[in-house]
Amino acid sequence: MADQYAQSGEDIQLSEDKQPRTDDVQAIRWEEPAEGPVLVLLDQTRLPAEEVELVCTDPQALVQAIRSLAVRGAPLLGITGAYGVALAAARGFDVRQAADALAGARPTAVNLAYGVRRAEEAYRSALGAGAGTGGEAVRERAAAAALAAARALHQEDAAASARMAEHGMRLLDELLPGGNHRILTHCNTGALVSGGEGTAFAVARAAHRAGRLRRLWVDETRPLLQGARLTAYEAARSGMAYTLLTDNAAGSLFAAGEVDAVLIGADRIAADGSVANKVGSYPLAVLARYHHVPFIVVAPVTTVDLATPDGVSIEVEQRAGHEVTELTAPQAPLAGVEAGGGIPVAPLGTQAYNPAFDVTPPELVTAIVTEWGALAPVTGEGLSELCSRSRQV
Ligand code: MRU
Repeated sequence: MADQYAQSGEDIQLSEDKQPRTDDVQAIRWEEPAEGPVLVLLDQTRLPAEEVELVCTDPQALVQAIRSLAVRGAPLLGITGAYGVALAAARGFDVRQAADALAGARPTAVNLAYGVRRAEEAYRSALGAGAGTGGEAVRERAAAAALAAARALHQEDAAASARMAEHGMRLLDELLPGGNHRILTHCNTGALVSGGEGTAFAVARAAHRAGRLRRLWVDETRPLLQGARLTAYEAARSGMAYTLLTDNAAGSLFAAGEVDAVLIGADRIAADGSVANKVGSYPLAVLARYHHVPFIVVAPVTTVDLATPDGVSIEVEQRAGHEVTELTAPQAPLAGVEAGGGIPVAPLGTQAYNPAFDVTPPELVTAIVTEWGALAPVTGEGLSELCSRSRQV
């Protein structure tokens, strides 16, 4: 088993028996070979061209994987952050330093900091409980507590995903009786971002299984093509009817009456119900309102951030201009933070505006579907009531 593992941050080809089955994308897993624990990521910058695993042995490699989008999507970032703390603890790194670096690796998806802090708190309270007893044994117990917290979050996310799919399906049936839905989605919200089948994509997949999905319209999602590279990949594996479109083509698709509902995920939902999600989501919400089409956000309650009062308070990640001024081959790291090195599509030196997310105001959101049910209309009071219900158990 030992030689299967690369050094920190290096990647390896999946061996034959490790190829994910068509119905089973596994974005992350914890392993404990003799050399010490590792976090294994399916490198999403290489999809769909290659299924390559990235084996992380230290928190810094994980921070780099998060920044480069090798691992991405709000719920998965939370899970990754929690495992990152567990990895730091198990391998004897400075846990506070690692937790801060991981939590700050990307700013918009609130799940990342949530996952990191949850594992860090588990680690600290186990350390505190063992105060006054033998140092090494206590540190081992604390590392085990951090890992248990990460595993719990991973499992909870899988369960949340299944519940969101149920609630989302019920909502679609209410809003669009008769089934046969044509759903437009943006970015990637499937098993690649989750412990389960995802958020918005999990609803589409449930509709497909129930024979009620006519077509999934997949926005390509410029500039990093999460729709084309990742959602199309997952849709193909799931056997659903799907069609890829450029983001710019969404308007004419609505105008042609070809969209029954928009389903997207979220990276942070503020206390007033404003939704930060992949850039390009807000224009879809405007189009959906104009064309009287439901605009539905699917996200676990870990994405709701009651401490952020409204949309303007959400920090939107600004990414490197070369992601816009260059086309990068899928098999190369798509979003190398320093790198670049793609095919230029603009004159050398062109400035680019490249926010990774935008914010949709609550009045444009028909419903927010969580594992605790669907909220419609979207109001701050409703959101806070939903969150307090989830925290009572
Ligand atoms: O920049 P990314 O690829 O991490 O952005 C991901 C998205 O915007 C997803 O739509 C969002 O995280 C919701 S996934 C459940």
